[in-house]
Amino acid sequence: MTPSEDSFRRAQQVFLRMRTPKQSSKQTAKYQYYAGYTTGFVSDILDQYGHSGARILDPWNGSGATTSACAARGFQSVGVDINPGMVPVAWSRLARPDLTKELCRRLIGTAATELCLDPGVTAGEDFAATFFDEAACAAIRGLRSTLIGYSRDLASDPGSPEELAICGAAFVVLAEVLREALRPLRGTNPSWFSRPKNESQRICLDAGSIKAMVDGVARSMCNAAGEPQAQRSPDHRWPEIVLGDSCNDLGELGPFDLVISSPPYCTRIDYAVATTPELLAFGELTKQGFESLRRRIMGAVVTDVNSVFSDDCGSNLLQKTMDAIRQHHTKAASTYYTRYFSRYFNDLILSVGQIANAVPKGHLVFVVQNSYFKEMEIDLRGIIIELVENTGFSLHTSRKYPSRPTIAGSNPRFKLYRDSNVRVEDVLIFSKHP
Ligand SMILES: C[S@@+](CC[C@H](N)C(=O)[O-])C[C@H]1O[C@@H](n2cnc3c(N)ncnc32)[C@H](O)[C@@H]1O
Repeated sequence: MTPSEDSFRRAQQVFLRMRTPKQSSKQTAKYQYYAGYTTGFVSDILDQYGHSGARILDPWNGSGATTSACAARGFQSVGVDINPGMVPVAWSRLARPDLTKELCRRLIGTAATELCLDPGVTAGEDFAATFFDEAACAAIRGLRSTLIGYSRDLASDPGSPEELAICGAAFVVLAEVLREALRPLRGTNPSWFSRPKNESQRICLDAGSIKAMVDGVARSMCNAAGEPQAQRSPDHRWPEIVLGDSCNDLGELGPFDLVISSPPYCTRIDYAVATTPELLAFGELTKQGFESLRRRIMGAVVTDVNSVFSDDCGSNLLQKTMDAIRQHHTKAASTYYTRYFSRYFNDLILSVGQIANAVPKGHLVFVVQNSYFKEMEIDLRGIIIELVENTGFSLHTSRKYPSRPTIAGSNPRFKLYRDSNVRVEDVLIFSKHP
């Protein structure tokens, strides 16, 4: 057996023992996220590739499976996400179960009027006013202020990561309440919230109905929080969770030894709209900020007419894919869809370059979900392999896992183009040794 065959065999053995990245509904009980993988999977990767003192990066941190598993195992980690609604979600996973339960108990024990007491600050331009009437916006501001007050009180150490974590849990309560409140604006597409056409169609909420929703969310969060006496491991190490753009912000954060991540899906879901409740909970966003996020987030469905794809992309497979999309016989293939995929792949190329620069030597682990354009399967796995191999990394090993359909695969119109909507997740592991 040659050394490379031996290394391949050992890698395959690792895969046989590795837990699946696939989520079960139980694993995500605290916060239902469409795009996550499991902390068990991250932990198995750390066993294999996380040497002592390793720094780990997740450039698309989402709900923070990577940062929470690294924190629990004592690894130094940095999670980056462009969506300000996801930063508190990632912090929430680090909240102590006893504090989360106490937060929920206090919420349940607080009367409706006190819970939603208007903090009296003028709202400025409030993105919530797009969906809710004035009284509801004031009640939401009141609830946010109560939640922040309770979290600060519980964490006892102002400005500490402990406070950020319990504040994150409080934001998740608010996001889940808002998801429930926005239900009248949801259609058959679970990732879409329509906007009221005029002020009179905005949602009205009083403190009593908000209180009922808070109690429901707090009860289920309390049940999912884990044993209150559960102790943090003595190795626990707080991560850095950063609001940033993988296309241009990673250089300053490095160097890293290991990347564990899952690129944004390439499935024409408007992820800014899909996370409207999280963005409303975050509260700092204006309408313009929201529209700008819709354009900047990878996989954005709002395309720029000037989006062009550089044919000099360094991947034959990607060039062929873009040619096939441009020449597809269906309406808008050569216009809108070419712009959409150009934008996605331009961002992917920039991000892969940034990631590779941030890891002088070590491993990159990507969980990649397959995607389609009409009947055509987009070989994202193959494209990522070619793009990453251009940066000096080589594919060490890979494995396929069947995946449950996510909101990304929920559009019933797929039946017009193909028989099956089977979703597959590939785990790709690359290495670079100078
Ligand atoms: C597939 S999800 C990651 C899921 C994550 N592994 C988890 O366990 O929750 C992709 C994430 O990438 C983020 N994202 C999209 N474009 C980005 C960009 N340009 N820079 C950084 N993050 C971005 C999205 O907001 C989303 O949270």
